[in-house]
Amino acid sequence: MPQETLPSPLEEWCLAPNITHLSHGSYGALPRLVQNALLQHQTDCEERPDSYLFFTAKELLSERRRTVARRFGSPDPELVLLQGASAGMTTVLRSFPWKEGDEVLYSNHGYRLVENCLLHLARTRGIVPRRIPVPFPLADTEDMVKAFEQGIQNSGGKLRLMVACHVTSPTALVFPAARLVALGRSHGLPVLIDGAHVPGHFDLDITALGADFYVGNLHKWIAGPRGTGFLHAKPRWHEALEPPVVTAHTGSFTERFLWAGTASLAPFLALDVALAHAARLDSLGWQARSHALLSAFRNEFFATFGTTPTSPDSPTFTGAMQAFALPARWKGTPEAEIHFRRLFFEKHGIEVPFTTLPDHDTLFVRPSAHAYTQESDFQTLLAALKFEFL
Ligand SMILES: Cc1ncc(COP(=O)(O)O)c(C=O)c1O
Repeated sequence: MPQETLPSPLEEWCLAPNITHLSHGSYGALPRLVQNALLQHQTDCEERPDSYLFFTAKELLSERRRTVARRFGSPDPELVLLQGASAGMTTVLRSFPWKEGDEVLYSNHGYRLVENCLLHLARTRGIVPRRIPVPFPLADTEDMVKAFEQGIQNSGGKLRLMVACHVTSPTALVFPAARLVALGRSHGLPVLIDGAHVPGHFDLDITALGADFYVGNLHKWIAGPRGTGFLHAKPRWHEALEPPVVTAHTGSFTERFLWAGTASLAPFLALDVALAHAARLDSLGWQARSHALLSAFRNEFFATFGTTPTSPDSPTFTGAMQAFALPARWKGTPEAEIHFRRLFFEKHGIEVPFTTLPDHDTLFVRPSAHAYTQESDFQTLLAALKFEFL
């Protein structure tokens, strides 16, 4: 058998070869063998829907849940599978036992769903969301901790929860989650970590991290089927947590969260294949190779555009995804994000997101690299960026 090396051939993924794929961090991408497992589970279900869903799939689903818990270091009864990070974050924020006037701290680098959910809770439950600006560009991870510390000190004394992203969406920065959990603990505050970009991308040991709540995605860097993620919660919260869809199932945390009504369970059932595939790519060191591809691109990007890097070039700050500031004459607005994402796809055949940050007007381009990414993909991106932004 030929020895496996990186990059992982594009033919082994469902990705079209005539497109430059640099957006893995957004929605992931599916390896063919995971796609085959997904289709097989779908076929198995359609052959005998009743017995399959009532008995077989439920048992397999519990097995997959236990496999995911083991893989990321969560005690088995403390982790449930959910459709994704949005479902996990919404579940915790909506179920949290808020009282009117309770405050919650989150940062301006967080995913927009957090702010949307908190603003809704402010209107309906009277909570007080406090968004803290994390200094940017960053020179030291301690600056992120200090920003939260400052937020705690400036709060009105009714702070009940700290929400932090482990790897941020708009800026692709790694936040020091363990330090933030420790900070929360030292103030008696539970911490909810949005780890949408962490499983498969960085090492994750949920028990060692010790957050009260940890949310992860499996469709991104694990390259599992879309519609798969998880929520870990410490036992003291289990009774309070309500699943996003209330079903006929009652009982423990894991029983109540078993499934979200009748829907295809195939994405969850294919997770064993996805996790095995991800482990194989991990053993080849795809993360270090991806970081190196981004470092090389980074050097050329800043030599060309002369803008300010978001952080030092180190795995402490970024992994297989980085955000690069475009020249200041292009302003970061929600409209610009959509305009350039569409332009790059339709005109240049490149899938790559453009992002912005609340409290800043910088427009970023945020390419990702997974095991299939080639150096030539970054050359294609650089040429298109020069064409549009120089
Ligand atoms: C930080 C962060 N949180 C949550 C999400 C939502 O993930 P999903 O759409 O899979 O629910 C994303 C998606 O990109 C994200 O980047």
